[in-house]
This record gives sequence, structure tokens and C-alpha cells, in this order.
Amino acid sequence: MSADSAPHASRKSKQTQAPPKDVAELHGELVREVRAHDYRYYVENDPTISDRDYDALYQKLRDLEAAFPALVTDDSPTQRVSDSLRTDLRKVRHVVPMISLDNTYNREQLADFVRRVKQGLPENAEVRYCVEPKLDGGSVELVYRNGSLVEASTRGDGIQGEEITANARTIRSLPLTIPIADPVTLRAEVVIYRKDLTAINEAREQEGEAPFANPRNAASGSLRMLDPRVVAKRRLRAMVWQVVEGQAFAASHSQALERAHTLGLPTHGLHKVAEDLEGVIRAIEGIEEKRKDYPFEIDGAVVKVDDFQQQQILGNTSKFPRWAIAYKFGAERATTRVLDILVQVGRTGALTPVAVLQPVELAGTTVSRASLHNQEIIDTLDVRIGDSVSIEKAGEIIPQVVAVDASQRSGKEVAYLMPRACPVCGTASVRTEGEVLLRCPNVRCPAIVKAAIVYFSRRFAMDIDHLGESLVDQLVESGLVGDVSDLYTLTLEKVAALERMGKKSAANLLAGILASKDQPFDRLLTGLGIESLGQVAAGQLAQEVRSLPDLLNLSREALEEKATAIHGFGPKMVESLVRYVFDPDKRSLLQKLQALGVSRPMPQVAEVAEGPLSGLSFCVTGVLSRKREDIHTDIRNAGGSIQERVTQGTSYLVIGEKVGKTKLDAAKKHGAKLLTEAELDALLKK
Ligand code: IVH
Repeated sequence: MSADSAPHASRKSKQTQAPPKDVAELHGELVREVRAHDYRYYVENDPTISDRDYDALYQKLRDLEAAFPALVTDDSPTQRVSDSLRTDLRKVRHVVPMISLDNTYNREQLADFVRRVKQGLPENAEVRYCVEPKLDGGSVELVYRNGSLVEASTRGDGIQGEEITANARTIRSLPLTIPIADPVTLRAEVVIYRKDLTAINEAREQEGEAPFANPRNAASGSLRMLDPRVVAKRRLRAMVWQVVEGQAFAASHSQALERAHTLGLPTHGLHKVAEDLEGVIRAIEGIEEKRKDYPFEIDGAVVKVDDFQQQQILGNTSKFPRWAIAYKFGAERATTRVLDILVQVGRTGALTPVAVLQPVELAGTTVSRASLHNQEIIDTLDVRIGDSVSIEKAGEIIPQVVAVDASQRSGKEVAYLMPRACPVCGTASVRTEGEVLLRCPNVRCPAIVKAAIVYFSRRFAMDIDHLGESLVDQLVESGLVGDVSDLYTLTLEKVAALERMGKKSAANLLAGILASKDQPFDRLLTGLGIESLGQVAAGQLAQEVRSLPDLLNLSREALEEKATAIHGFGPKMVESLVRYVFDPDKRSLLQKLQALGVSRPMPQVAEVAEGPLSGLSFCVTGVLSRKREDIHTDIRNAGGSIQERVTQGTSYLVIGEKVGKTKLDAAKKHGAKLLTEAELDALLKK
């Protein structure tokens, strides 16, 4: 189905004359027909007409509305895509907090959950459980009043979300009206089907944009976009998993899902009601077995006490409901063949072996490469070219080779040894003492230069719009750019002369570059990619040395002294920083950037004498509802300090979703307390 992005018929044009009765009837009929086809396509996955016929029908409706604008109502299918561009996403408070679920990973933990549920309810209470897939997308809250969809918001930090009504209206599985006058607040997961993601990613790659790593990122990123016309092209679909006014709506969760379905709301329709632990486990197994057949991604199952009254008796802990739990599936694995092993040269010159794989589907994306990390890992796994291997997604993003099936060998497999020279520039590789990694030491190696420029332009660094990877390749290969300072000397003529580059794209690129000059100094420090100096450390350093001229004015000793005094700066970081700033090549790069006026001094922050977080240090990790830098700023403004790593003395580890085990282990080891985003907000508000 196309027609997603068709601008709506002008609602503003005046129509004084009421349309004739038969025209109004025809309009009503067309609206019903388009809605029915939307439902069949987006909810039932069972279209009964071709895309072309659908488009013709939709066009007929639009033409009719163009001729009789008085017919246009807010819930006409033509009114899904608003063409007004927004400048921000307003914050909305959820009436009931959107808390998340505790996780279980095995039978024993599920048995514990069932036991806790029983203990929390009157003796001999009969408990039924509703088991359903845990959909992997972005969660939203949808508010219907008097039968109309009036507000949609993201989960945000669970307390407050971002208002995204215009974007939600573009989701064609979501009715704009439902036949019920009572207020209904729903929670749903917005997902992208795997097949749709493939098409979106192909288009993005053609545009020089980075593909989405998985449908979840694509869905949640799309929901927060500012232009509903672009959102409409993302083929988002919603599936309801909770009715907030449950008790007034139905007697149990499963009944609420079924009633939602009969009202025309999209549900997954995959829930099963189970009587006991064994039934719960069977239902979970059933879901896991079919996981690959669903057109969307799931990352587990959710087990809920079905009866709403029982849910209420059980209530919530400070973090999770006591009446529901998630069961997370293990990382997905796939089997494929290693066609070749290549070496990739990274920003720091690190040479990383990468397995080129026979393309295979894994957790929603087609995987054709997997990292092999270093020679030691290749040797330990004994991976050879031609081998049949198992791959897994670590943290669901970067695929890794986890095992070799030696029984599949024919004898023709070829063992692999890392080359002695950089595959891109041919310079002999070096190994830093104590490291397994090999590096290309040539600072002018085109691969290193390209990677450094891409890093420099990333969103968390200089945030240069319109500078995709393929354009960086072109700029470096054409000799226009040899280091990041050359970006600032590009001219319209030079850029427009590149292949496949029009005047307009060239002008966009130059505007993006020019705008980046005004980034504060900490962004520049981040973008330089100085080893061991991440975003947080760059921010800390920029608080001490506030501008590029200040940095260049410091003597080696003074820089060393200042850096050493920064909390969390170990000897390795100080050494790497001083080495960078006093390396003749790097120094001349910094001087060029200074002469070009790149980056502005850090704004003076009012000294926080006493704030609610004074004396406390925080490390922030995981996927959060807001930009990490913004959270850092709030913490600093409240008197707290930020640390890149959890160390002795870290007071709190602020955790978002998908927190790595290393950080959690470190928090345990050093006694740092865990804090959710909502809890941090509560502290900040004190
Ligand atoms: S029920 C009180 N059901 O998982 C919490 N959540 O960790 C009720 N999710 O934010 C959550 N599919 O985005 C529930 N079938 C499902 C779900 C589901 C996905 C997500 C949801 C929520 C997160 C909770």
C-alpha cells in the first residue's frame, strides 16, 4: 500500500455549500471502504485488493474531498498525515506511570513468580495467567475520548513521555475513532515488520544514511520524528497490550484484549490463557517456537495475572508490577558459512578481522558480516574460511561468531592469519605492548582518515548533517579532505563537482559543516577521538580547559596537572591526552581548527554551591528516554558529578534499558546504588 505520504486535502479551504446527499453517501462509503482495507492490510495482514486498486480508491476519496471540502472530517483516512512540521515534542505526564517489567530467564524464576503471586492472593484463590509475546518496538500510550484518538505519547521515563499524536495518527492499523464513548487509555507497542525494515534500510543506504540496526530502533526512532510526513512512510503498526481502565472495560486482561479487538483496535491476537505453571511454560514454548514466523520481532513473552481484581490486590513494587513478569528468550542464533575473512581498519588504526558470511536472517536483519575481534579469538574458536559457523547477536546489534561446526568440514577450509601489513595502505602493522590488537601506525592511512571524519561528524560529537559514510569516502578519495580541518575549507564548487552530487546537496552539506563550527568545545574534544577520552571525559576536560585556544596555550606540565586533578582521569587517560595534544601532527591539526574558528568556548555555568546532588557522583548507562548529555547536564546543574566508569566512590549507576553486564557487575563490586531514570528525576526534583 502506498498513499502513506499523500498530503491531505486542504482542510482550510472554505466550502459554503453543503454537498448533495448522494455525494455525502458516496463519501461515507469510500471512507468505510478505505478503513476496511487499511484494517485488512495492517491488522489482519490479509489484503483483499492490490496496492494499485487501493491507491485508486484512496485517490477517489481525496478527489471527492477536494471538490467538497465540507466533507472532510478529522477522522477521514485522508487526514492521517498532517503536513505541519513540528519543532519539538511536548512533554506529557502519564496518568498512571508506565512501569516496566521484571525479567525472568528460566523455569525456576517463573516458578518463583507463580509462588509469589499465590502468596499475595487469598488462600486457594484460583489464578489464571495470560501469556503473550513481548513485542520489541517502542511503547506508546493512546488516549481515546468520546471515541476519538486525542493524544498519543511515548513511554519516556515512565512518568512523562513525549506527545506524538500527529505521528500516531499516521499509523494505519490504529483507528482514529472507536465505537465507545467512555474514556479509554491504551498502551501499545509500535513495531515495524521485518520486511518493511528491509525496504526502509535499502532506501536509507541509497540516501547515504546509516541503516537501522533492528526494527526496534527503527520503530522508536520513527515515533519521535518531527515530521509526520516522514513517519507515514515508515509503515509503523501498533499492537495493544494493555487497557489502562481495565476494570471498567472488562473483567480480565484477556477479555480486555478481545474487547479491544472487537472495537477495531489492533491487538497481537496471540495471547493464551493458562491455568498453572505448566500451562504458562507450554504457552511460552509455543510463542518461542513460532517466533521466527511472526512478521515482527519479539524478545520474549509476558506472563500476566489475568483477573483485573487480582492484579489490583497484588499491586506493584516500587519498580515493577507484582502481577506480571517478562520471560526473555536467549539471543537468537543462526548458522551460516564463512566466505572470507577481511580486515577492517578502525578510527584508531585497530585492525579488526571480520568474517564475510553467506547472508543469513538473524533476529530480524540480514547478516552478512560478523566481527572476529582479533587473532586470539580466531585461534580459540578455530574459525577457518569455508567453515560452517553459528552466529549470535551480542546486545542484539553486532553479530558475532560464537562457534564452529567442525563436523561440516570438507578439508578445503583455510586457516587464517592476520596480515602483517595494513590492508588499505600497506604500512607494516604494529602491536602495542600488552595488547592483542594490531594497528596500522600510518596516520594518513585513508581508512583511518575516513573513520576519523565519520566519527567527528557523529551526532554526539560535531553533529554534521548530510555527511554520510559514502560521501566521506568520496571526499577523501578525491583528495578534497585529508583531515577534519579540511571540511571547513570546502567550497560549493569543489563539492558540487563530485560525482552524484548536485548543487542542492552540496549546499546542504556546507550548511551542515558551517553550523558545526558553533558546537561547544566539549563536542570538538569528543569528535577528535582522542584515545581513552570518551564523551564524559571530554565534557569534564572542557569544564577545566574551556576552549581550544586555552588548550593550545597550556604547557605540557600544566595540561598534565589539570587533567590529573579531574576525578576519574587515570594515568592512561592523562598520558593519551598529553600525547595527542603535543604530537606535532595533531597539534598542527588543532592549530588549523583554531584558525578556522571551529568550536566555541564552553558556556560559563553558574557554580552550584549546594544542589540536591552535591557530593554525589553518577555514571549513566543504557538506553535512556533522553539524550545522555542532557541527563549529564541536569546532574551537573544539581551539583552532582559525572563519571564515565563505575569506580570506588561512584554513588549511583543510573540505568536505562539494555544495561550491559559489565556495568552492573562494577556497580555491585563498588557498592554503587542502582537508580532508574524516574528515580533520578525524583532526586533532581528534591
Ligand atoms: S505489559 C505494567 N505486555 O515491555 C507493565 N509489555 O518491560 C505492563 N512490552 O514498556 C507491561 N510487549 O513496551 C506488556 N505484551 C506486552 C508487551 C510489553 C512489549 C514492552 C512494553 C513495556 C515493556 C515492559
